[in-house]
Amino acid sequence: MKINLGCGRRVLEGFINCDIRELPGVDEIVDITKRLLWENGVVDEIEASHILEHFEAHKTKKILAEFIRVLKPGGIANIEVPNMGAVFKRWQVADHKEKWFHSGSGDRRFPSLFHYIWGQGNVEGGQCHLRGFDQECLERLMGDAGFINIVETRSRIGHSVRLQGEKPGS
Ligand SMILES: C[S@@+](CC[C@H](N)C(=O)[O-])C[C@H]1O[C@@H](n2cnc3c(N)ncnc32)[C@H](O)[C@@H]1O
Repeated sequence: MKINLGCGRRVLEGFINCDIRELPGVDEIVDITKRLLWENGVVDEIEASHILEHFEAHKTKKILAEFIRVLKPGGIANIEVPNMGAVFKRWQVADHKEKWFHSGSGDRRFPSLFHYIWGQGNVEGGQCHLRGFDQECLERLMGDAGFINIVETRSRIGHSVRLQGEKPGS
């Protein structure tokens, strides 16, 4: 079983797509700050893309503990978040437009640096960013939660870090 937590409008084939909002393609309404729906050790893969930054820092540990609980031994989690290291580096050289405004349009619409830091506000509910990460911070949090073999993989969007971790015991 594969689960896509906080899927938003990015519905993935072959996954149970979960969000706190009822959106097209959402299979289960799930609040990831609560105990997850699944029993211990039944999930093969978790996708958690651009979701952890939506919760206060003190909640990350509990959320990652739930990921570990529901994963099978050898199961993997792919976690992607905005990378504050990259955002702040870019901020030093970015112009006013790149810092504060979206650019492009349609599929080529890029978020402003402001957006990576603070999110979209609450236009659609639950869209504010309440914490930040950089690569080392996410790696340490995943390691502390019990993930092993943590590797960086290609992030979906710019100024982000995507790490894959494995639950031990396979
Ligand atoms: C920035 S979107 C990311 C969407 C998608 N994962 C992606 O990478 O494009 C964050 C999503 O998290 C959802 N969300 C916010 N709080 C949540 C919660 N407590 N539990 C589950 N989903 C939540 C929002 O409804 C929103 O769809």
